[in-house]
Amino acid sequence: MYRSKIAGLGGYVPENIVTNFDLEKLMDTSNEWIIERTGIHERRFVTPPCGTSDLALQAVKDAICDANIDKNDIEMIIVATSTPEHLAPGSSSFLQALLELGTIPTLDIRVQCCGFIYGLSIADQFIKTGMYKHILLVGVEVQSVGLDLTTEGRDTAILFGDGAGAVIISRSNDNSGILSTHLFGDGTHAKDLWIDAPAGSESPRISKEMLDERRQYPKMNGRQVFKHAVTRFPEVVIAALEANQWTREDIKLVIPHQANMRITESIAKRLDLPLEKVYSNIHRYGNTTAASVPLAMVDARNEGKIKKNDKLILAAFGSGFTWASAALIW
Ligand code: UT7
Repeated sequence: MYRSKIAGLGGYVPENIVTNFDLEKLMDTSNEWIIERTGIHERRFVTPPCGTSDLALQAVKDAICDANIDKNDIEMIIVATSTPEHLAPGSSSFLQALLELGTIPTLDIRVQCCGFIYGLSIADQFIKTGMYKHILLVGVEVQSVGLDLTTEGRDTAILFGDGAGAVIISRSNDNSGILSTHLFGDGTHAKDLWIDAPAGSESPRISKEMLDERRQYPKMNGRQVFKHAVTRFPEVVIAALEANQWTREDIKLVIPHQANMRITESIAKRLDLPLEKVYSNIHRYGNTTAASVPLAMVDARNEGKIKKNDKLILAAFGSGFTWASAALIW
């Protein structure tokens, strides 16, 4: 068995900054409400046309450069996204073509906010068994084009933003690497945060009636999501601690999916960790779903909060419901 590690990291967000004040002009909301309930000050929206793979490209280039490998060393592409540019094929196929990466396997995974950590776990299995040495994993979202930017959709529209994070997962030849991953799901809550249409169970999948009924927009039972998130996040962090016999003091940083600042504060409180040990950059980007964990890693590293040999725990919770964690030595 081999060990895998994050050998390269890159992130990219669109230039277009959308502040809470900009949203005030579109819906009945306020900067104060958004900051108080979520901690979000601004987010980034793409300027269409811009697909998921287009947005991922710069983050991928940075990750390849950071890993100091040739792009042709990559043996598999995994893209975690809940906002692919088309129903088929997956964004990983479009990204492969943009990168001119030959005939290697490509895989899309749709695990929403947990997509990046699920992807990390999948990549880890391929590296551990010796099947591949370098895998490209991307967490990327173009949420903005699918949001209901009216008062009707304000509970979700204020949360989400666009962005991309990419990592190269490589075989480790030192102590650094991914030590454990824990993945969970509970589909009985599938409709507590979901997008109904296009609906594969109906013919046609998309119709004028569906659009008139606004079924193409995300629907969320916010309180239910919140309630489960504040329980599952600490649980899955504790699972990572116990599996590696780490104490809270061992952890340099917990990097959670950026769902809501109040959720992050609650994780710190429930785990009895100082808030400085639970990373947050939600004020800058909002909730970028599958991109949020790698984008948080990029910012944490740029801020000098992650250094070689640090023990980190990544954790996520979201639509599905799904929740997941990864313990790693940087
Ligand atoms: O990655 C996972 C993604 N999702 C999440 O993490 C979401 C988790 N949940 C949340 O973050 C919170 O539930 C929200 C931020 C979405 C909402 O906060 P809340 O404290 O649970 O508010 P609420 O849904 O209980 O709504 C309180 C009030 C309501 O008005 P009334 O019924 O009390 O008159 C809402 O209509 O706030 C109203 N409201 C808003 N007001 C201004 C809902 N959205 C907005 C808005 N601006 N954007």
